[in-house]
Amino acid sequence: MSLKVSVIGTGYLGATHAACMAELGFEVIGLDIDQAKIERLAEGLLPFHEPELPELLRKHVASGRLRFTTSYAEVGEWADVHFIGVGTPQRTDGQGADMSYVDAAATSLARHITRDALIVGKSTVPVGTARRLEALLAEHARPGVELSLAWNPEFLREGFAVRDTMTPDRLVFGIGTIDSEAMLREVYATALEAGTPVVVTDFETSELVKVAANAFLATKISFINAFAEVTETVGGDIGTLADALGYDARIGRRFLNAGVGFGGGCLPKDIRALQSRVSELGLSHTMGFLAEVDEINLRRRDRVVHLAEAMLADELAGAKIAVLGVSFKPDSDDVRDSPALDVATRLFNAGAEVAVYDPKGNANAARRFPRLDYCDSLYEAVDGASLVLLLTEWEEFKALQPGDLEPLVRKKRIIDGRNVLDHAGWEASGWSVAAMGRRY
Ligand code: UGA
Repeated sequence: MSLKVSVIGTGYLGATHAACMAELGFEVIGLDIDQAKIERLAEGLLPFHEPELPELLRKHVASGRLRFTTSYAEVGEWADVHFIGVGTPQRTDGQGADMSYVDAAATSLARHITRDALIVGKSTVPVGTARRLEALLAEHARPGVELSLAWNPEFLREGFAVRDTMTPDRLVFGIGTIDSEAMLREVYATALEAGTPVVVTDFETSELVKVAANAFLATKISFINAFAEVTETVGGDIGTLADALGYDARIGRRFLNAGVGFGGGCLPKDIRALQSRVSELGLSHTMGFLAEVDEINLRRRDRVVHLAEAMLADELAGAKIAVLGVSFKPDSDDVRDSPALDVATRLFNAGAEVAVYDPKGNANAARRFPRLDYCDSLYEAVDGASLVLLLTEWEEFKALQPGDLEPLVRKKRIIDGRNVLDHAGWEASGWSVAAMGRRY
């Protein structure tokens, strides 16, 4: 008989995992403490933008294979495997991760599970968490119920969440005191049969793989952005430099795009949480380079603000600036730690009139920073603008030609914060162009 699966937390990770588990043929219940979110999901409505996921959600809500609840009692007596996919946001008092949601999920599960079951942690956590949770589960488990814990980090990217979940690059199984490998192999049988590499290891390694991967990606981006600072001073072409580096298979071209830097709900918070955790472990210098990675990244935002100030000079106060893109990356409506939104608000605070257009991110950005002028179209945003900023590389922005904007803008000035336009072509059309890693 097929395993019954519960997924605790129906945010980005949990909602995707639940829908994909249903697609793999399991019966699934998603649980969240947010009643309104559960009601919407039960109607097949996704509270965020993610390609392919709405179709999958609707399909399996309709088939009855995917249900939603707020009741731990319901999942505790029903499921064989419980995935924990709740958030671990940055703590408000500092750099570390807020573990209260993970701890609450584990405790609630332990109190409500009525038969032997496997609990699988997927959330991104500080190393040492799984070992701590194993003890927490034992403390709160009902008498006679054996709860095993495994750690199985998630590597999905926003915008590719379904694809990354269905066909991951690798699976990592962190196994604790009770051996749970066979059950994990059953859960992931489809991917394993398709040849997905699997790493079976201990708790600590599995927790570290996740944060190490994000730290490496962040470092790679800041590495090229540090060279962008050099080419901005000395001249040279940062894109060509990245291409030439990327041909070396040991380096690779991916995540070497210079730009306004990384943002989102993962990379920035994860590198800060990792530094904080290793400091707690008495290794404060070990991850010191990540502070530098963070600083290089934040300096990219300063660079765009300074370029805008330089291009507008004493016209900035009251000038209209069009900001194209406000989500932290394309194909996402997520504005958490978005470099684009940060730049937009800073220019607003400096006195500019900032008109924003993002194909999906406007509503989330407006909730965080309502005072910008959110536009329904790119053309409305650029109408009368003295400066255009391209800050998220949505396809519709990458396809822009100078002639598309010329009838509307007041001044032909653009900052390409993602280096996706043909700069020479725009300059040939009379535009003043600034870009990342480029002398101005
Ligand atoms: C990231 C990781 O890529 C996933 O593997 C991981 O599972 C996820 O975090 C997580 O921990 O949950 P995500 O935050 O969705 O995924 O976004 P990425 O595609 O990694 O992009 C992060 C940021 O880096 C974006 O702001 C993007 O614009 C920026 N970036 C990316 C660059 O500035 N340059 C690049 O070359 C690549």
